Amino acid sequence: MIIGTPKEIKNNENRVALTPAGAKELVKRGHQVFVQHSAGIGSGFSNDEYISAGATILPTIEEVYAIADMIIKVKEPIEPEYKLIKENQLLFTYFHFASYEPLTKAMVQSKATCLAYETVEKKDRSLPLLIPMSEVAGRMAIQKGANYLEKPLQGRGILLGGVPGVLPAKVLILGGGIVGTQAAWMAAGLGADVTIMDVSLARMRYLADVMPANVKTMMSNEYNIREMIKHADLVVGAVLIPGAKAPHLITRDMLKIMKPGTVLVDVAVDQGGCIETCKPTTHENPTYIIDDVVHYCVANMPGAVPYTSTLALTNATLPYAIQLADKGWKKAAQQNPDLVPGLNVINGEIVYKAVAEAFNMDYVPVEKYLAD
Ligand SMILES: NC(=O)c1ccc[n+]([C@@H]2O[C@H](COP(=O)([O-])OP(=O)(O)OC[C@H]3O[C@@H](n4cnc5c(N)ncnc54)[C@H](O)[C@@H]3O)[C@@H](O)[C@H]2O)c1
Repeated sequence: MIIGTPKEIKNNENRVALTPAGAKELVKRGHQVFVQHSAGIGSGFSNDEYISAGATILPTIEEVYAIADMIIKVKEPIEPEYKLIKENQLLFTYFHFASYEPLTKAMVQSKATCLAYETVEKKDRSLPLLIPMSEVAGRMAIQKGANYLEKPLQGRGILLGGVPGVLPAKVLILGGGIVGTQAAWMAAGLGADVTIMDVSLARMRYLADVMPANVKTMMSNEYNIREMIKHADLVVGAVLIPGAKAPHLITRDMLKIMKPGTVLVDVAVDQGGCIETCKPTTHENPTYIIDDVVHYCVANMPGAVPYTSTLALTNATLPYAIQLADKGWKKAAQQNPDLVPGLNVINGEIVYKAVAEAFNMDYVPVEKYLAD
């Protein structure tokens, strides 16, 4: 198969969908790989590294789209790319269709096959191509939180791990899923006094088993949250209710009972945030202050560490990309059920129900395209 990886053109996107190592794997299997000039630069991969891996560098995005049977990228195509997409071309990338109607309509019109990273799903309902970014964001939440706790950045001026004779900082993590667990490991490693709150007893039993002694678990409810935020130095918002807006676990009035200089890192900002006063910020201008409480609410945290994020993402996407290249999307989906919910648009028809419902468009069950 002919595989193309364009350079991402969305603002501030430095990740790339294929590393030189990934290109080499595909080439080894007899596929042809075309990478746009400087597509890997933002993540630290030079054109020469791709060439050594057996890929061909093409100067323009137009040439990459024109030659490829399968496009592998990171972010959803944006408007200038719409006209480059060909009928029957396979696009394997994040789409987040339900949040943007013009993209959905453009992909329907293109008659391309759209396989969305975010809806590839395993039998246990986990989302293997979203997990790596949650891992990055969870770990980063503590790095950022520790930084903003410093006085010159308007934090309380407390060192996360303390020092001998001085107590460590208290870190409260709301939600003990992927983000919360990774945040807890980092905070615990730095010596902080960590509490994870969740509503799932099963999850907290697991966390209590695997976490070190400086991590405790506690049932998440309003009473307990009000008690805990009085003493917290850093609060990480990491809740998720699949398919719904995040619940506001910390409301505006609660800021008044927190210590001045407390830092809130609301990772769940992309689902509306679990802190009422949270609004999306950017890496250029990441924080703001309300009632002496520092808010960090960057909606694309992994974007700040493109090297790590690219490797984490491609570790997860490459095995699927290889199946798609070796077998074509139809046979690959017939043989690997994880890929079936990833199919969102085929031949001008929406085959993912929630996307069709979001815009009142026609829906065709994906089985129509999977039958022999
Ligand atoms: N800002 C970013 O850059 C970025 C990056 C990656 C992920 N995220 C977001 O981070 C959030 C968490 O993602 P995840 O992968 O950890 O999800 P997850 O499903 O693994 O974990 C969510 C956890 O929240 C718990 N929960 C649900 N309701 C709760 C409540 N009322 N109180 C306490 N806990 C509750 C669940 O039981 C679950 O353990 C999502 O909104 C995700 O989109 C943001």
